[in-house]
Amino acid sequence: MRKKVDFLVVGSGIAGLSFALKVAEHGKVCIVTKDRADETATKYAQGGIAAVMYSPDTYEKHIADTLRAGDELCNPNIVRITITESTERIKELIEWGANFDKTESGKFELGREGGHSESRVLHHKDATGAEIIRALLINARNHPNIEILESHFAIDLLTQHQLGVGVSRGMPEIKCYGAYVLSPDSTEVTTILARKTLLATGGAGNVYHTTTNPPIATGDGVAMAYRAKAIIENMEFVQFHPTSLYNPKEKPSFLITEALRGFGAVLKTVGGKEFMHKYDERGSLASRDIVARAIDTEMKHSGDEYVYLDATHLNRNDLIEKFPTIYAKCLSIGIDISKEMIPVVPAAHYLTGGVKVNEYGLTSIENLYATGETSCTGLHGANRLASNSLLESAVFSHRAAMDAIQTYKNEPHCEEIPDWNAEGLRMNEEMVLITQTTRELQFIMSYYVGIVRSDLRLQRALDRLEIIYRETEELYNKSIISLPICELRNLINVAFLIIKMAQQRKESRGLHFSIDYPDKASIRMNTRR
Ligand code: FAD
Ligand code: SIN
Repeated sequence: MRKKVDFLVVGSGIAGLSFALKVAEHGKVCIVTKDRADETATKYAQGGIAAVMYSPDTYEKHIADTLRAGDELCNPNIVRITITESTERIKELIEWGANFDKTESGKFELGREGGHSESRVLHHKDATGAEIIRALLINARNHPNIEILESHFAIDLLTQHQLGVGVSRGMPEIKCYGAYVLSPDSTEVTTILARKTLLATGGAGNVYHTTTNPPIATGDGVAMAYRAKAIIENMEFVQFHPTSLYNPKEKPSFLITEALRGFGAVLKTVGGKEFMHKYDERGSLASRDIVARAIDTEMKHSGDEYVYLDATHLNRNDLIEKFPTIYAKCLSIGIDISKEMIPVVPAAHYLTGGVKVNEYGLTSIENLYATGETSCTGLHGANRLASNSLLESAVFSHRAAMDAIQTYKNEPHCEEIPDWNAEGLRMNEEMVLITQTTRELQFIMSYYVGIVRSDLRLQRALDRLEIIYRETEELYNKSIISLPICELRNLINVAFLIIKMAQQRKESRGLHFSIDYPDKASIRMNTRR
């Protein structure tokens, strides 16, 4: 089957939907999304969205905090663009119907999170993402130019090399014409031809065993772009959130928002001792790389499986009012957070690197954009400042939309693209192999490519990955195409990129900490192991 649209959007989180709503004013849009439309990382965002709203906050302060968190690897131009455009994008989310909490005086109630020097996080209690996705989806579902195909899985991009024409004009050599998309019945692959394509497929937390990310986060966009030969960068910088609820049987791990620390909760050892001031003068509100490594260090020294987050000194009514989701979740497993400390562990949370894009979200492949967690704009550098990712998605989806609207009419559909070739494939009878290999991969990444790394651990990971890469490619080439095998293949591609880029970085910086190159990070951490 073939289908033609002006704009193909892969993903229905904040990045995909906000782009779609803008380009839909100009042409036909098809959104493909591999699960229900609202099943996205966006929906689970708790803390909120950072933006400069009132004095004493200023753009300069938010810029300085972002640069500091990014450990000298941010692109200063991109940081300035993102932050100076933050207020406009917040206004737009509100116009689309998103509600953010206000104080009695009618001003926005701004939360505080790690690494921020001011309170600047707009939020909807502790369920900000669910509120944003609710508002965006209502608009998208009601838009006459937007078609949403749920449970449709983008397998690979449609690309063609330009036989050198583009290179001589100084343009990208490869052009994108849409994607091959698997239908929910898992047998039919549709060729969706588009003038412009957006990858907004979110993160890749499921490459690790313990993650806050929903199951959809399997790095599909990065893997598709990588196979299409787009430039990928900064993959070594995987952000581990310091505080996910320690509840070993639960997957994904439930997040305990940093906003709770911003509200006064404090990290303690199992023995009840505060420890964060040993590592950073900002204590429990240091930036995430530092807090996650500090917890990892404490757990390794003590042998404990978790540390505690103590909110028991905070006002009970405030806790219930401001953090209803967390309060209810913890109570459901027998913890009243106003009376008992919360056991927490770090969990893979955010893919800081991704598909390299310019200031308009354009990748190194012509007509292919990437925004949101899939992309690497240069905003986060070596470490993302809390609540900057929803903001980044909104800013760069807007910019990508503006760019795509200006140029899409000059881009014809490419009729020569062949349909998906399923010849020679037979039934896949080995589903259990896919599940087992996925688990194996997640353990390799968690054991050897976690918060603390070394050359030896990275090489072990690569050696093991090579075996499962070979086995999985063999299986893929002889199987009928299915979502699980495609996801596994994508996870393997992403794991490879993380390991290779981690091996290339001969220093410790931001989220990448290696015991073989402790330099800067060890000074800041005050710990050498
Ligand atoms: P997502 O919202 O993840 O959407 C990805 C979409 O792509 C989904 O619709 C998915 O189904 C679809 N998709 C993926 N692959 C395919 C494929 N092959 N074919 C078709 N569809 C596909 N950030 C903040 O700024 N503030 C916060 O408070 C915050 N809290 C967070 C809490 C949690 C628990 C988590 C997990 C993340 C949090 N983050 C937060 C990070 C932030 O939520 C994400 O970075 C952001 O929502 C990513 O948006 P996105 O649109 O790029 O991707
Ligand atoms: C949180 O609420 O702690 C998550 C915020 C983020 O990931 O930016």
